[in-house]
Formats: sequence, C-alpha cells, structure tokens
Amino acid sequence: MKIDKIFIASDHAGFDLKAQICGLLKNEGFDVCDLGTHNKDSVDYPDFAELMAQNLRGNEYGVLICGTGIGISIAANRHAHVRCALCHDVTTAKLAREHNDANVLAMGARTIGDAVAADMIKAFFATEFAGGRHERRVKKLGGEK
Ligand code: RB5
Repeated sequence: MKIDKIFIASDHAGFDLKAQICGLLKNEGFDVCDLGTHNKDSVDYPDFAELMAQNLRGNEYGVLICGTGIGISIAANRHAHVRCALCHDVTTAKLAREHNDANVLAMGARTIGDAVAADMIKAFFATEFAGGRHERRVKKLGGEK
C-alpha cells in the first residue's frame, strides 16, 4: 500500500484522540498532516470533513474523528473522491480497506477506547485493497481515488 501522506482532522470531541493517533502514525514513520481542530473549543464537524476532502488526493489517506464518527463521515462522503468508512473495531477497519478501498477511516472518540482506536489505525494502514470482485463494486461507487 503506497501512502504518500496521511491527513488527520477532528472536531472538539475528537481532539484528544486525534493527538494520540497523530503520535502513533508519526512513530510508525508516516508523513502526517494535522488539519485541526487545534484546541477543544466547540467547532462544527462538517468544516473538518470539508478540509479533508479539499486536501485528499491520489495516494493520500485520512483519519477523521468526531464524538461518534457519524457526522464527520456523512459529511466526508458527500465528496465523490472520498470513501470514508466509519469503523468501530479492528475487523471493520481491516475490511474497509480490503473490500471498500476506503481512503479515509472515521471513528468516534466517545464510542471507542484508545487502545481499540490504535489497533484500528494499525489494521487500516496495514491492509491492502483486495481488488478482484471488489474492484467492480468500488468502481460503481463513482469518484476518483
Ligand atoms: C459534537 O458534540 C458531536 O455532535 C459530534 O462530535 C459528532 O458526534 C457528530 O456526529
């Protein structure tokens, strides 16, 4: 899996988990770009999904975090080139790559623990798209990678 850069963004609810995941990804050697939010003041999650969509290109990937992961993933998926998967465990994180070629992983800071989040990140970025029959299905989603 060729990963040129990983963008990460969250709203205020995801701020602490974002910091933890930023550290983890940097430790793993990834080129990480933090799009904010940069403090715990209340913000609107669609603004950070929008920033993600504006930045994401080619072999770049993303991580989006809000309280539940729901709002920020809905907002991100309004952009055709974003395939954002809201995941809750290692299995969904792995299958989001393997079957859906997801380029953005969304998670909920208020719904999962830190250790699960870390394991999900490792699984997502270590898993290749399986292609084959899934290629045809992903193509039907439209959009460009
Ligand atoms: C913010 O309070 C919360 O609504 C947001 O983080 C997210 O959970 C929305 O889906």
